[in-house]
Amino acid sequence: MKRISLNKERIIPVLIMGAVFAMVLLFNQPVYSADRFLNPIQVRPVAHSGEESHAEAGGNVMGSSGTCPQLRKTSKAPDNYLSRKNPLKPTRKNLLAGKGLFIFDAKPTPCKVCHGFKGNGMGILHSRLIPRPRNFTCYYTMENLPDGQLFWIIKNGSPGTAMPSFSYLEDDQVWQLILYIRQFQK
Ligand code: HEC
Repeated sequence: MKRISLNKERIIPVLIMGAVFAMVLLFNQPVYSADRFLNPIQVRPVAHSGEESHAEAGGNVMGSSGTCPQLRKTSKAPDNYLSRKNPLKPTRKNLLAGKGLFIFDAKPTPCKVCHGFKGNGMGILHSRLIPRPRNFTCYYTMENLPDGQLFWIIKNGSPGTAMPSFSYLEDDQVWQLILYIRQFQK
């Protein structure tokens, strides 16, 4: 009798620890898994009128959403560029290549420094820049900008703003960047 109750005393804490361990395994998903990173913004605008819906369009589930809609200083790309469509598909490989350029590799300055890690236009330099860097999470601004416009500006920069030209990038690299920044508005 004594022996059995002793065993029970030992087994119960072991069971509790097992249960806690199982819950940690089940619920503790990595915060920066690749999927979450590639789709940081899960909220889509629902309504299309009024100030509130504007705020919603820029809203995201991960904190500050930046200004939306945003004033825009950048001028229009030439017509033959405006009609260009992104020839690449948003495969994991292309998105990761775009992400690498956006965050680390683009020269002279990675896009993140101005446009922000979350693409909301609030990178570390943003408060010193007028006009402010584009907020890629802002559906109302981004939906009106065709791929060819983004391509032209990334290659040539936007005179009169801080947006530099990244003319050394291969065309495919620019299209990969565009796939990546389009993710932010989804
Ligand atoms: C030094 C700061 C800075 C860096 C670095 C930077 N941008 Fe910009 N970007 C800006 C500013 C400022 C604007 C202009 C906003 C405006 O037109 O009002 C802009 C505008 C844009 C636009 C909008 C074009 C349009 O027609 O509205 C795109 C697209 C863009 N940047 C992409 C990029 C990409 C991709 C990178 C990295 C390869 C990058 N930017 C790096 C500051 C920067």
